[in-house]
Amino acid sequence: MTMRIGCVGCGNMGGAILAGLARNAEHQDKADAYALCGYNRTASRMRPLEEAGVTVMPSPLAVAENADIIVLAVKPYQMQEVVKELRPALNKNKVLVSVAAGISLHNLELWAEKLCPVVRCMPNTPALVGMGVFALCFEDPKLSHDCKQNILQMFGRLGQCVELAEEKFTAFSALIGAGPAYVFAMMQGLVQSGVTLGFTHAQSRQMVTALFAGSARMAEEDPSPLGQLRDNVCSPGGLTIAGVNMLDRAGLTGLLVDAVLAADARGAEMERKGG
Ligand SMILES: NC(=O)c1ccc[n+]([C@@H]2O[C@H](COP(=O)([O-])OP(=O)(O)OC[C@H]3O[C@@H](n4cnc5c(N)ncnc54)[C@H](OP(=O)(O)O)[C@@H]3O)[C@@H](O)[C@H]2O)c1
Repeated sequence: MTMRIGCVGCGNMGGAILAGLARNAEHQDKADAYALCGYNRTASRMRPLEEAGVTVMPSPLAVAENADIIVLAVKPYQMQEVVKELRPALNKNKVLVSVAAGISLHNLELWAEKLCPVVRCMPNTPALVGMGVFALCFEDPKLSHDCKQNILQMFGRLGQCVELAEEKFTAFSALIGAGPAYVFAMMQGLVQSGVTLGFTHAQSRQMVTALFAGSARMAEEDPSPLGQLRDNVCSPGGLTIAGVNMLDRAGLTGLLVDAVLAADARGAEMERKGG
């Protein structure tokens, strides 16, 4: 059956979700297709999405009327106002999926007056290139099994889904939401060392990017412990172990743990203060 998916707020994240689904729809069986629609405050942002096959709606309410899965991708401070606008079209056959950072299920339910089930989703920025990790919280008891499967199928086309309790969302944000920043920082250091060794910046960046992609693929495909994969590269008395010894002396592993714990502590503090 055709799944009707709508998005209110088609900026970076909402636009990436719709564009990713539209790209995907081209490769689907007709029976398994998505009907996509969206609304964005600044209409010009809808143009590329419309060209990709998304139906442009005249208002947020029209999105809610024409979709069963309604993705909310406005800024967190705009969320309450937007949910209020959707209320006349909400019923138990619809579901609201919020990707807004820090907006709790409790608030979503409150603003939607429990007219429909609500789902909380936290993507990370690689979602913008179709390789996101999506935390999904399905704790609303109003959510049916089928609806949950549809949402998992939908986000599964845009990256990897992880089902999490809401209390784990801050930890997820500290590790995976913030994760691209840690990875880019490590990439930056390696690119810089390549330049120091005489490669051009462009060459160094291209090689380091491929290094991360290739290493990630190996970690995905080979179930050996990561320490083992690391040791496999280190020949006795060789060049790699000389570099790895420096990393161990500087405490890279402990530094990464400290970085994630600091982000988690800051996230918890922000939640206590209400964002
Ligand atoms: N970007 C990320 O990597 C990321 C990661 C995790 C979570 N998120 C969450 O995703 C949400 C969107 O973030 P973003 O980075 O995509 O921001 P963004 O690029 O500013 O997108 C928000 C969009 O919402 C539109 N908008 C505002 N009010 C609206 C309304 N009443 N009706 C319809 N559209 C409206 C804005 O329109 P205009 O074009 O007129 O401004 C804008 O295009 C946020 O809640 C954020 O917490 C984002």
